[in-house]
Amino acid sequence: MINLQTRRGLLAGIATATIATAVPASTRTPRFDLDRFVADVRAANDEADSQRAVEELLSQALAQPGNVLSGLGEPTSVGLSPIYRSKDLTILNIVWPPWMMLPAHNHLMWATIGIYTGREDNIIWKRKSEGIVEAAGAASLSKGEVFSLPHDAIHSVTNPIPSLTAAIHIYGGDFFAAERSEWDPETLTERPQDFEAVQRLFRETNERFHASEN
Ligand SMILES: [Fe+2]
Repeated sequence: MINLQTRRGLLAGIATATIATAVPASTRTPRFDLDRFVADVRAANDEADSQRAVEELLSQALAQPGNVLSGLGEPTSVGLSPIYRSKDLTILNIVWPPWMMLPAHNHLMWATIGIYTGREDNIIWKRKSEGIVEAAGAASLSKGEVFSLPHDAIHSVTNPIPSLTAAIHIYGGDFFAAERSEWDPETLTERPQDFEAVQRLFRETNERFHASEN
């Protein structure tokens, strides 16, 4: 594991965010079995350092991103698809349409992200004054890379390529129950995150991209 700041040469990165790289071939699994993966993540989540244990598992799986892609299937639709949900763990398969930008938001729980196809660019934000954020770092995530955020992180996500990006996102809590904030992209002021609006953003970005192709 390499500290985010040394790995990417950030603006001024947050020390607790990390990127894990591929593990040795001897520990790679030959085939991605989703049911087995979910069982392993649930067990890892019971460990004392649950995020670290989950990060190691995800790194092992993403050592062969093509296997994860085969196991989950080539993404055909955009959005957030729950793989597993409980009060202390959520696993999502998130597919980003081309050029999508999700504004700065928090999770209020730790998050670990593994890219299995495409690219994700993250900006890491920090609170500057009451309700206002400022950029504090960035991470360019490629296929096979795993990225961890602490429970109080604020990030925005961009898919910077003209094709779908897909990733497994694992959260140390019930992602859908949390009352998260997002920050207005123009004013950088805090407001409650509207999950319906987030889902609409996925759809509309996808529709705009396909309209631009015609
Ligand atoms: Fe997020």
